[in-house]
Amino acid sequence: QPIYLADYTPPAYLISDVHLTFRLSPSATRVLSRISFRPNPDAKSGEFVLHGENLTLISAAIDGAPVSPQMTDTGLTCDVPDAPFVWEAEVEIDPAANTALEGLYMSNGMYCTQCEAEGFRKITYYPDRPDVMAVFTVRIEGDDPVMLSNGNLVAKGDGFAEWHDPWPKPAYLFALVAGQLVNHPGSFTTCSGREVELNIWVRPGDEGKCAFGMQALKDSMRWDEEVYGREYDLDLFNIVAVDDFNMGAMENKGLNIFNSSCVLASPETSTDANFERIEAIIAHEYFHNWTGNRITCRDWFQLCLKEGLTVYRDAQFTADMRSAPVKRIEDVIALRARQFREDNGPLAHAVRPSSFVEINNFYTATIYEKGAEVIGMLKTLVGDAAYYSALDLYFERHDGDAATIEDWLQVFEDATGRDLTQFRRWYDDAGTPRVRVTDDFADGTYTLHLSQNTPPTPGQDNKPPRVIPVAVGLLGSDGDEVRATEVLEMTEAKQSFRFEGLNARPVPSILRDFSAPVIIQRDTSPEERAFVLAHDTDPFNKWEAGRTLAREGLLEMICQNEDPDERYLDATLTMARDDSLDPAFRALALGLPSQDDLAQALHDGGTTPDPQVIWDALETLKQARAQAMQDTATRLYAQYQVTEPYRPDAAQSGARALANAALGMITRLDGGAQAQRQYDSADNMTQQLAALGCLLQAGNGDPAVAAFYDQWQHDRLVIDKWFSLQILHARPQDTAAVAERLTRHPDFTLKNPNRFRATLGALTMSPAGFHHVSGAGYALLADWLIQLDPLNPQTTARMSTAFETWRRYDDARQTLISAQLDRILAQPKLSRDTTEMVSRIREA
Ligand code: ARG
Ligand code: ZN
Repeated sequence: QPIYLADYTPPAYLISDVHLTFRLSPSATRVLSRISFRPNPDAKSGEFVLHGENLTLISAAIDGAPVSPQMTDTGLTCDVPDAPFVWEAEVEIDPAANTALEGLYMSNGMYCTQCEAEGFRKITYYPDRPDVMAVFTVRIEGDDPVMLSNGNLVAKGDGFAEWHDPWPKPAYLFALVAGQLVNHPGSFTTCSGREVELNIWVRPGDEGKCAFGMQALKDSMRWDEEVYGREYDLDLFNIVAVDDFNMGAMENKGLNIFNSSCVLASPETSTDANFERIEAIIAHEYFHNWTGNRITCRDWFQLCLKEGLTVYRDAQFTADMRSAPVKRIEDVIALRARQFREDNGPLAHAVRPSSFVEINNFYTATIYEKGAEVIGMLKTLVGDAAYYSALDLYFERHDGDAATIEDWLQVFEDATGRDLTQFRRWYDDAGTPRVRVTDDFADGTYTLHLSQNTPPTPGQDNKPPRVIPVAVGLLGSDGDEVRATEVLEMTEAKQSFRFEGLNARPVPSILRDFSAPVIIQRDTSPEERAFVLAHDTDPFNKWEAGRTLAREGLLEMICQNEDPDERYLDATLTMARDDSLDPAFRALALGLPSQDDLAQALHDGGTTPDPQVIWDALETLKQARAQAMQDTATRLYAQYQVTEPYRPDAAQSGARALANAALGMITRLDGGAQAQRQYDSADNMTQQLAALGCLLQAGNGDPAVAAFYDQWQHDRLVIDKWFSLQILHARPQDTAAVAERLTRHPDFTLKNPNRFRATLGALTMSPAGFHHVSGAGYALLADWLIQLDPLNPQTTARMSTAFETWRRYDDARQTLISAQLDRILAQPKLSRDTTEMVSRIREA
């Protein structure tokens, strides 16, 4: 059942052009295709195979003569001439019944598509693989006022619209949208003077939430010209917001389709974090126009070729638009939470996997986020100038290609003369390397001894050493920097690096800016951590020192029943008071390791984590910190109130983040009086939601919860927050019951992935509640996964990863979880997506 990278063969037939006609009707849409095929001179086999799923074939013809293809489980085959020919087919599909949200489906009465990875085969018979690229002409017939597809509008009349996309593309980039939509227009003049019409299409009523996205789009277009020399290549760029969408967004050529939560924004309804994420996703999808669309992937094993690079590019963009250190810290927090967790469990896989059952299960943190880290390491190793010349060569050499990771690395080898054979292991080998660090000092020479080791992952027992760029700086005893950042290039299992001519033993700052996605293991004192927190010039490591100090203190609280670490409390107080530090940085440095981080750290250290004990330790520490920082919290809260009109920029959101972190501490001492005042006077969602979270945390949230619902019941995206927050702030023993109660709320629905994630996803993001010994959390999630699977396999499979850490826990919990996994696997007709995920988890 799995398919293998090693089995790749070129397509038997290539396509010169595709004509599609859609006769739209909610439950009986007709799709007429006329496709010019020609034999591929490079092909090994001549068999004509078209993919197709859930299609009713009405008629088929070759060069005008009717044919009767042989139908297979996954499509059809047919005898064809040994020369170019025209394939014509008519199929019927049922968009209204398409709850999987893949192919052509309906969302709130609007037609829309999602074809990546293999959804186009649910629209018509086609060689649905990314190395078959074609020019598409699309005619849409229907009575919707707005009917969109890729490329440029070439004709529009009563009941029809015709689109032509001059850029050859794989079918996964096809898109169609039709409905009663309104647009927020804009325009952009490219560097060479091309006038591009921009539109964000939304449901009537959402027009007021488009301005921010439009600005983000323009900023992205300018940024890609300035930084990568990439200009937009059509006269039109459309974005559409859709409420029912499995993922964040999709980069279809000239017609990006977005989950409405990833594009619609207003100060009243969106938080600062929402704004930042929307800006990043708009950039991400736009950047795909070059890294993904103009240069696409040969096959789905190469997914990281476009995703890793595009995530890397959108992170650079955010760093430029906002604060680079803040973005880096946020990304590392997310990487550790999602990718390290994946890499250290049963779902671990390579950045470029060598086999899969269902490609939709591989849109993972490893392929996206670790894929981006790998590019960051490459850039660190070759240097900025060589990186951009390699990228220029990549665009020049591969424009119009369906490329591979080999092509990508070849470009870097050719541009820099570097041998990347060993570096390639980052693509092929799964798992997070551990880098153990010891040091010594004698006669003015400081030596760092590094050794690397990557634990086994499923199917990969032995991991040879990798190239690891370790950025290091040295601090002197009075906190000055005695050696500026230098990149140590580790290539061996064990290696030592010397720094000569020092007057005294320095304090090392290791893995600055998180220069590689590895786990550093180094025994050092809390005093040294506090020193680095106070003095490091590298913002990432400054933050990291505080985080490590907190984590080590928490682990002692958990394992040895210690009291909160005074050194952590003192160092944090000093840091928080330092007004020379960016408020956004201070807010991040006031964050604590997550429950899941602590569980993983305990597990790594050979201790079975108890989620309730972890929760209790975090509560104790937060309470102690609130006490220790009482005056500072009050001062910061007052000092960082924003009085100007709301702007979602880095400066204002940093101030709000710090003030709201202070509010969290204040609430632990005043029971919510200040939070209630903030709730009552808030004029933006950031302030309102932060206050609501505090009130819930204090156990005094009921009135605000009711008021919030009354105020926002008409706004789905805000109500998603309402669902989540109640679950996230429940006591562990109540979490499952709160979630269960909310699944019975009239606004809960299985049909909308955002609402499902807001509810069941919030359950899984509350470790102490989800893993409560009663097993109620496990049972509730399994119940709902079983109900969702027949409707929406993709979202079900993705949410089943909540169970991926199950082997960390005690026997009682493992027994409870394995029973739920078995119950899911025993469902008749369980989807391929969910079967693959749950069995990989179960087999651990
Ligand atoms: N390419 C899209 C993006 O990164 C995501 C598409 C996800 N599709 C899927 N079937 N999982 O922006
Ligand atoms: Zn992407």
